[in-house]
Order: sequence, then C-alpha cells, then structure tokens
Amino acid sequence: MNNRPIGIFDSGVGGLTVVKEIFKALPNEQIVYLGDTARVPYGTKSPESIKRFSIENAEFLMQFNVKLIVVACNTASSIALPVLRKRFKVPIVGVIKPGAKKAARLTNKARIGVIGTPATIKRRSYKKAIDGILGRAKVVSQACPLFVPLAEEGWLNNRITLDIAKKYLAPLTREKIDTLVLGCTHYPLLKNVISRVVGRGVRIVDSASSVAEEVAGILRKSNTLSAASKRPVHRFFATDAVEQFARIGQRFLGKRISRVRRATY
Ligand code: DGL
Repeated sequence: MNNRPIGIFDSGVGGLTVVKEIFKALPNEQIVYLGDTARVPYGTKSPESIKRFSIENAEFLMQFNVKLIVVACNTASSIALPVLRKRFKVPIVGVIKPGAKKAARLTNKARIGVIGTPATIKRRSYKKAIDGILGRAKVVSQACPLFVPLAEEGWLNNRITLDIAKKYLAPLTREKIDTLVLGCTHYPLLKNVISRVVGRGVRIVDSASSVAEEVAGILRKSNTLSAASKRPVHRFFATDAVEQFARIGQRFLGKRISRVRRATY
C-alpha cells in the first residue's frame, strides 16, 4: 500500500478526460492535477519549449511527493517522455502507447486514422507506436489545430464545428479508415461531431480509459495502490485563469471542481 498521490499534467483542461477515467478505475487514489493554462496550447510550440514546460510541470508535481506521473497530453507525451524518465525516479505514464494499443486491438482492416495537434502529428508518434504493434498498418494522420479552442469554448455540437470537422476529416474518410484515434486529450469532447462525420461504422479510440488501466496495472504490480480507508482529497492547479479552468474543466471531468489553485514555479 502507498497513499501518496498520483500527479497528472496537461497543457490545460484536456487532461481532465484522463482524470475522469482514473477516478472510475481507481476510486481510492488521490490526484494532484496541473493544467498549464498560462502556456496552452503546446501543440503549436517547438520541441524545446514542450520539453522545458514538461520538466517544470513534473517538478511542480514532485513537490507533492507523487508516486507516479501521468503525462495526460499527447503533445508532451510525443516529445518529452524520454527526458522526463531520465530526470525523475517515479514511473512516468504517457498517453500514446495505451491509445495505440487500443487502436491495434480494435481495427479489423489495419486502416487507422489519427488526429492530433500539429506537434503530435509531425512527430508521427502514433504511426511509430502502431507499426511497432501491428507490423505494417495503413495510418492516415491529420492535424486538427482548431479542435482545441472549439473544445475549450464548448462549441461541441454546432454547425461551425461540424463544418470544420468535415474539412479536417475528409482525407481520412477517403482512405476508408475503420478506426480513428483521438490523439489529443481535448478531442473526446468533440466525439459526437467527429463520429457523425466519419460514420458510425468507424471505431473511435481515445486513450483515457487505456491510460487508467495502465496506471492501475503499474500500481497493482508494485503493490502501491492507496488504501481504501478514507475518501481521497484531490487537488487541482492551473498556471493561469483558475476560474475559467474550473468552469470549463467540469465539462471535461463530468463533475464540479470546487477549488482550483494558482500554480507558480
Ligand atoms: N491536450 C493537448 C494534447 O493532448 C492538446 C492541447 C495543446 O495543444 O496544448 O495534445
């Protein structure tokens, strides 16, 4: 048993979709969440900046003596995992491998679409991870930078969002994908619109539940799950705009966030 908290970070509110699944899979675990809202989006920044931001985020979480860190951001997972693993002693879990594994399990025809931020798509992280599992698969990738502000703004089902989704997703439907990976933690909020555009026959994969399973597996194996004795107290931090984080965050988390504190490093 180990009652230390799990640390989770993202560039903003998107990582709360991962927190939601961790709450479901591991209800006794205490969470410390950091959203780097002062520097969001990461997806359009350089690898050097993304690495530096990720190290600072992990350092912030380490102050809480976390037992494991989840990088709940595809962009940071694509770029900063090696540097984080070198620098910090606790297990570091990214979101790419769990998502790739799930897609590989679900696809019938090995024709997989991947959507994400420009930085994630440029890095070809999903393509590499999927090829590593399936040998050779047809992976069609598309950066969808406007999806992040649309999700943050709560424009989840309207006409403009649908038109933008049609434009972004046309190359993927042309390639007759049977599975689509939501390679950004913001995108699960747009799942309805995305599914309407690609067709109900295409399986939509988001890595949140697979990440929660992976975390549960690591804690179980190392015998470091938290004891069930008392109700866990979760802490939420943002580097800026804490009220907005709380307001929008509840949409991602599916429940109210009573307090968000300002993080300073
Ligand atoms: N949540 C981030 C991700 O999963 C996207 C937002 C950003 O660009 O910072 O890639």
